[in-house]
This record gives sequence, structure tokens and C-alpha cells, in this order.
Amino acid sequence: MIILKNPDQLAKMRSAGHLLHDVLLQVREMIVPGITTMDVNRYTDELIRKAGAIPTEFGYCGFPASICASIDDEVVHGIPSENVTLMEGSILSVDVTLALDGWQADSAFTVPVGRTTEEKMQLIRVTEECFWKGAAAAINGNRIGDIGYAVQSHAEMHGYSVVRDLTGHGIGRKMHEDPSVPNFGLPGHGSRLRPGMTFCIEPMIAMGKWQVHQLADGWTIVTNDHKPSAHYEHTIAVTAQGKPELLTLPEAKWEEITE
Ligand code: MF3
Ligand code: CO
Ligand code: CO
Repeated sequence: MIILKNPDQLAKMRSAGHLLHDVLLQVREMIVPGITTMDVNRYTDELIRKAGAIPTEFGYCGFPASICASIDDEVVHGIPSENVTLMEGSILSVDVTLALDGWQADSAFTVPVGRTTEEKMQLIRVTEECFWKGAAAAINGNRIGDIGYAVQSHAEMHGYSVVRDLTGHGIGRKMHEDPSVPNFGLPGHGSRLRPGMTFCIEPMIAMGKWQVHQLADGWTIVTNDHKPSAHYEHTIAVTAQGKPELLTLPEAKWEEITE
């Protein structure tokens, strides 16, 4: 069941989203070679709690940390560790969910550690573009499949593939609500989009093939061919007219991002 949000509820989700944006800007800045993924986790956890919010990944289905930190062939759900040091040339995906005043916001980004190859930079760039293509399709009256189709077409046009095992999702009082928002699909298929719908669009794009497996830690998702993958995510709200509101990216300027 899809839960529509009223204007008061949307205002609360906006506050949560703007806080998460602010946190992630600072987290992005700290990512340099030589620190551990646990350093990134600690810093993020502190920023969230200092702001009076709750890092809701911690304890979610038993997840043991406040962020997901996934390196290179790790697609998502990497567990931060004191034993994982960030190496120059790797790419790191950081995925964070928080709750403020009972309302959730969820966002992820991928960055190079120091300098990396043009090949990996292009993967990061195209993954972000996939998000924007999907978000541009999240319009009142469109369908969920229009989003997935837009994401998939853009990824495959660049010779990349879309990881199928995980999807975007509705969000609100809970981290995961209906509907599921796949990064693949057919135009005109799936639930119809309506104002007040809030969900996460989160392309997980693999440089090679899309098949993945889970590590023995019970969380980390890794590409079978061990080629790199990237992740980019924002929480959005469908509006009555035109492009969606990006709850986790307050300064979004559609004109600059899309043609
Ligand atoms: N933030 C994730 C998402 O995009 C959920 C992470 S799983 C958790 O849906 F266990 F880390 F919480
Ligand atoms: Co997320
Ligand atoms: Co999500």
C-alpha cells in the first residue's frame, strides 16, 4: 500500500532530507586515502546525532553500523570496518539513512578516493545521470516503469548494466515502504505516480555484468565479475505539476542538470 504524504508530513520529510544533504556534504569532504571506512562511519554517526536525528541503518535488520560503505566491486551494503583502509584509486559508495522527528531520509553517493581512472570516473558520472533520467520521469500521471525504463536505457546506452537484485523504494515514517522502484522496466507499466508520493530512486550500475552475490558477512553485495559498480540515491516527492522535489538535494536546479 502506497502511503501519500500531506503537506505537513512533506515538510517534516523535507527537514530530514535537508539535514541528510548537509551531513553528506561534510562526509564527502572527509574521504581521502588512508582513512578507514569505520572513520567515515564514526564521523557520519556523530554528525547525525549532534543534529538530534537518528542513524536508522544502525540495527536495521541487524545491520551493525550507521552507514553502508561499499568499495569498487561492492555494490551496496558494505559494512564499515577498522580493517578497511581507503586506497587511492578506489571508488567508495556511501549510503546513509536518518530519521528526524520520526521521518526518514535516504541518500547515497559514489566518489573516487584521491584520483582514479577515467573509466571509473565515467561510471560514477553515468550513474548520477541515470538518477537524473529516472527523476525526470517521476511526474504526476507517469508510472513506476517509466522511471526504471529511463534509468536502464541510459545505463545500457553506455554499455553498463543495471543491478536487478535491489531496487529503490517508498519512504516515510519507515525506511522502506511501497512501492518498489526498480532501475529497469517498461514505460507505461506499474503503479501510477501521484502528488504526495515519496520514494527513493537509487541506480546501482555495474561496469560489467549485473549478476551479484552476497558475502559471508550476510550484507555486502558484490558483482560476480568483480568489475566496479556505483550507487547514487536521493529521496524525492512527486509534485502536482512538473519535476519532483528532491528532498535530499535542496539546491537541485533542473535546468542545469537536464537538457
Ligand atoms: N539506505 C539503504 C537503502 O537505500 C538501506 C540500507 S540497508 C541497512 O534502502 F541495513 F544498512 F540499513
Ligand atoms: Co540508501
Ligand atoms: Co534507499
